[in-house]
Amino acid sequence: MLEYELKTATKPEWAEVAKSNFDSFLKDHAACERKAASLAMSMVQHYPDKPELIRGMIDLAIEEMAHFREVMKIMLDRGLQQDNDEKDPYINQLLKHVRKGSDVYLLDRLLIFSIVERRGHERFYLMGEVLEDPKMKDFYMRLAKAEHRHYTLFMKLAHQYFDADIVLERLDQLLNIEAEIVNQLPYRAAVH
Ligand SMILES: [Fe+2]
Ligand SMILES: [Fe+2]
Repeated sequence: MLEYELKTATKPEWAEVAKSNFDSFLKDHAACERKAASLAMSMVQHYPDKPELIRGMIDLAIEEMAHFREVMKIMLDRGLQQDNDEKDPYINQLLKHVRKGSDVYLLDRLLIFSIVERRGHERFYLMGEVLEDPKMKDFYMRLAKAEHRHYTLFMKLAHQYFDADIVLERLDQLLNIEAEIVNQLPYRAAVH
């Protein structure tokens, strides 16, 4: 089973906040795509002995870079500049739960990246629903579908390298942790 539900849903207010400060949202979104690409490439470099992971992460890096190119084009057309990178509080708090030890480290990272993509799937879909410009609407709906593929890719890899019961038990723990993190973060004009 590669699909799963999040333990807490983003409220529609989040999309209203993002929409009402759409320029800020775009800047954060572009940074997320760029960071997702470099993270995928760091996985490639970190696991030379795992061909399936390498194949999946190279494809993912290319796709995230293509998304970055698209978001950056929208930003440049609107005359927007990138801000300095700031730490994403959501990602930072999640990554604190990565355990040490090469096996659990890999499992936790695959599952956390899956959950981040799963949340992206949920939120881009919400953006697609609230945006009025048909081009922007289509863009975010298309990205929501991509995030669905990405979250299941990470699950597929987790199942490739670990037993199903271990994967599902840890996924459940991390989903509870993610729900707590999401519920205590204020909604901002940002992906997280
Ligand atoms: Fe993406
Ligand atoms: Fe993604």
